[in-house]
Amino acid sequence: MEYILAPSILAADFKNLGEQMKLTEDNGAKYIHFDVMDGMFVPSISFGMPVLKSIHDVTGQVMDAHLMVKEPIRYIEEFEKSGADIVTIHLEACEDVEATIQKIRDCNMKVGLSICPETPAEAIEHLLPKVDMLLVMSVHPGFGGQKFIPESLDKIRKIRAMINEQGLQVDIQVDGGIYLTNVREVLDAGANIIVAGSAVFGGDPGENTKKFMEILKDY
Ligand code: DX5
Ligand code: ZN
Repeated sequence: MEYILAPSILAADFKNLGEQMKLTEDNGAKYIHFDVMDGMFVPSISFGMPVLKSIHDVTGQVMDAHLMVKEPIRYIEEFEKSGADIVTIHLEACEDVEATIQKIRDCNMKVGLSICPETPAEAIEHLLPKVDMLLVMSVHPGFGGQKFIPESLDKIRKIRAMINEQGLQVDIQVDGGIYLTNVREVLDAGANIIVAGSAVFGGDPGENTKKFMEILKDY
């Protein structure tokens, strides 16, 4: 299994976005996490396709788009055109989650499926064979800089056990409130893709990425 850091640009300094992303890329962050908020599924609004399109040109990182958007099926094709490599949708935001997954596949992108803190692991058990990545939200989606919800660790362990029982190779990504101080617990629970916003972009993104990568290489 590959262990990957996905810095979330939500916490970046947008006037220097390209440079900041480059610092994370040069120090080993293979993915860049792109949080799309629609003001409906979550209270806040962030950014969308035009921003993705422009950053896609300045980095070789895997574009990991996390859609906190109601009925994301409406936008899958546009995300593909804007350069997304992975599209993650929320179980709670889709009327027909299987059709949404299929749409992402039809557009030749990797499929991520996310669940909010209040959604139990059992809700996605039957969908695991259809996805490439399962995203466990460890905060309530909508804002960066929140505190990690400790119950998420049990959920990660449960989902990793389900993946193993079904003999699958699904990545587990965890998002929200992850810092150098608690990332080991998240990895030990069974996650292999770490999203970090404040912990990477609060301070020197290059140095912070380097420190995360030192921990990840032990796994
Ligand atoms: C929250 C977003 C996260 C957020 C993480 O809704 O999905 O990706 O940017 O930020 P931190 O790492 O600051 O909790
Ligand atoms: Zn996110």
